[in-house]
Amino acid sequence: MAIRKIREEGDEILKKKSRPVEEINDKIQELIDDMLDTMYKANGVGLAAVQVGVLKQVIVIDIEDGSGPYILINPKILKQKGEQEVEEGCLSFPNKFAKVIRPAEITIEALNREGKTHKIKAKELLAQAISHEIDHLNGEVFIDKIVPGTLEYVDPNKNNKQ
Ligand code: NI
Repeated sequence: MAIRKIREEGDEILKKKSRPVEEINDKIQELIDDMLDTMYKANGVGLAAVQVGVLKQVIVIDIEDGSGPYILINPKILKQKGEQEVEEGCLSFPNKFAKVIRPAEITIEALNREGKTHKIKAKELLAQAISHEIDHLNGEVFIDKIVPGTLEYVDPNKNNKQ
């Protein structure tokens, strides 16, 4: 297990699409462990592999409600419903926060780290986090879809979740 370097704003890799994982081997398991370590160390609620420089469809999420961590490999959106306007940040955009419109509910299907397909129906913060992280796999970042005029720079000395 190791902390990996988080790619930040301006790094072109963040605009690239991630490829599906073909085999959940030891390298992918190590990637998942490192992503969890990196996310927790950075005080984040989610991280996509592209953010540590790996263009594979792997996401880790932990919204700290006791239900996680979620490991999502090759996730597919099955259904989205409604909208929520939410405050959002991203570990690749340190200290920047803005309002974004996310689906109120999202249903996805993904592989877990054992290679088993599972379905997740999420709402509120979990729906927001899943939507945000799946965007990363498509090379999309939240800063490009913010509600105009809502971007804020927050003092890094404060302990904010991203
Ligand atoms: Ni992000």
